[in-house]
Amino acid sequence: MDRLLDSLFPSAENIPETWRLGAPLEQRDYLVNGELRRWDGPLATVRSPVWLKEGADERQVVLGSAPLLDADTALTALDAAVQAYDKGRGAWPNMRVAERIQHVETFLARMREQRQAVVKLLMWEIGKNLKDSEKEFDRTCDYIVDTINALKDLDRRSSRFELEQGTLGQIRRAPLGVALCMGPYNYPLNETFTTLIPALIMGNTVVFKPAKFGVLLIRPLLEAFRDSFPPGVINVIYGRGRETVSALMASGKVDVFAFIGTHKAASDLKKLHPRPHRLRAALGLDAKNPGIVLPQVDLDNAVEEAVTGALSFNGQRCTALKILFVHEDVIEAFLDKFQRKLAALKPGMPWEPGVALTPLPEPGKVDYLDGLVADATAKGARVLNEGGGQSRGSFFYPALLYPVSHEMRVYHEEQFGPLVPVVPYRDLQTVIDYVLDSDYGQQLSLFGNDPATIGSLVDIFANQVGRININAQCQRGPDTYPFNGRKNSAEGTLSVHDALRVFSIRTLVATRFQEANKELISEIIRNRQSSFLTTDYIF
Ligand code: G3H
Repeated sequence: MDRLLDSLFPSAENIPETWRLGAPLEQRDYLVNGELRRWDGPLATVRSPVWLKEGADERQVVLGSAPLLDADTALTALDAAVQAYDKGRGAWPNMRVAERIQHVETFLARMREQRQAVVKLLMWEIGKNLKDSEKEFDRTCDYIVDTINALKDLDRRSSRFELEQGTLGQIRRAPLGVALCMGPYNYPLNETFTTLIPALIMGNTVVFKPAKFGVLLIRPLLEAFRDSFPPGVINVIYGRGRETVSALMASGKVDVFAFIGTHKAASDLKKLHPRPHRLRAALGLDAKNPGIVLPQVDLDNAVEEAVTGALSFNGQRCTALKILFVHEDVIEAFLDKFQRKLAALKPGMPWEPGVALTPLPEPGKVDYLDGLVADATAKGARVLNEGGGQSRGSFFYPALLYPVSHEMRVYHEEQFGPLVPVVPYRDLQTVIDYVLDSDYGQQLSLFGNDPATIGSLVDIFANQVGRININAQCQRGPDTYPFNGRKNSAEGTLSVHDALRVFSIRTLVATRFQEANKELISEIIRNRQSSFLTTDYIF
């Protein structure tokens, strides 16, 4: 392991030409009211999880800097969004759906041009490997295409009138107002855009603040945002949440709060809003998804799924398997196979072919993980795999911890990193109680092939979590499926289809089905005197 850690971080000249960095990026631009404005105030240093060898030393790479806007400047972005919405009278919220779609298509075409730049920064800023960085970018583009198609479907269904009990009506989804969109550092592009794009396309105006890491990678998209949307429709701010976002929420001018992060931060921010009943929230929060391995099981499949479920992107996924319950009858074989698979995962830099384990972007994360391991080992667990828990700089080699029990912190805390706690069980009730008593309720995985057991566990867990995965790891995709959570894990449901609903409200125009009213409505439609009352059909 020492040899592996010694050779982990490269020297600058060992980085492939394509992925080398130029001079540090001093990013001072932010987007307000259709203008890229320059910030002359303080900047935050942006550091990479990647360290480089310099002679006998290893140094953390400085990627550049990003603006630390103050509250007043952040409020100018909010004011621009408020003005563009103009109490629902703005051009954007009143634009016909087909036209709004054109703006989003223009943006998508411009965004695709930036693939290489964004992928490179995903690797350097958050340490995501090349394959997953490319996947994040492409999946986000696909999400935008799917959103456009879903909106066309929705609009086609709204292009007709309905007649109920003598009342003629047309129902359309209308925007809610100003949306504040904030994503997480593990999916700084994808997760942010899964709220940002639906919010925009439904006619809301937006203030977007990038995640705490994965900040510079938004820079290549600022011109695309500026040129694709009318002024004030999308505004991009930077800075500390405490300073900027708190001021936005306290202003009471945010109508929709889309946030992916911790439940603590979400509730602190929601509390700042002076009229909470007027705030719609879409939240993706903490999770501690368990993987439950039953005695009758295809163990090879269970191990395969558990390894990727627990360790892809170093366990830094909200959907990661964060604790494994394994039946005593199969525990030995399970641990043995798990260790062999784990040992085959390649550590290295994000751009290296086939690399699976990479450095972690959060400062202090390695110390935090060390603390969890020390706590667990002091209370009777062992690190089973060779080199497990060893670290160098920002890199932490995964640790398989066994046997884990309820007195240990890692049994309860969301580690969000490469630690795999395994709890042995004999009585399934102990596992059921863990799920029932947990503060989290995002997803879980069941591994087994006995229909009676799986069937009854599905029924028990269906009221506990948002998704039950059978013989598969937990995950968000496919993006057309609902993604949500219970308890502290989420508020609202996202998917291509659901997000369009989250960022809009059904609005009805109704009249008695009488001659004069029929004539009136027909005239409005014939003369195209309304954008709402129309039977236009988007092809
Ligand atoms: O971090 C949470 C993400 O939504 C997980 O998505 O399951 O596709 O990695 P994923």
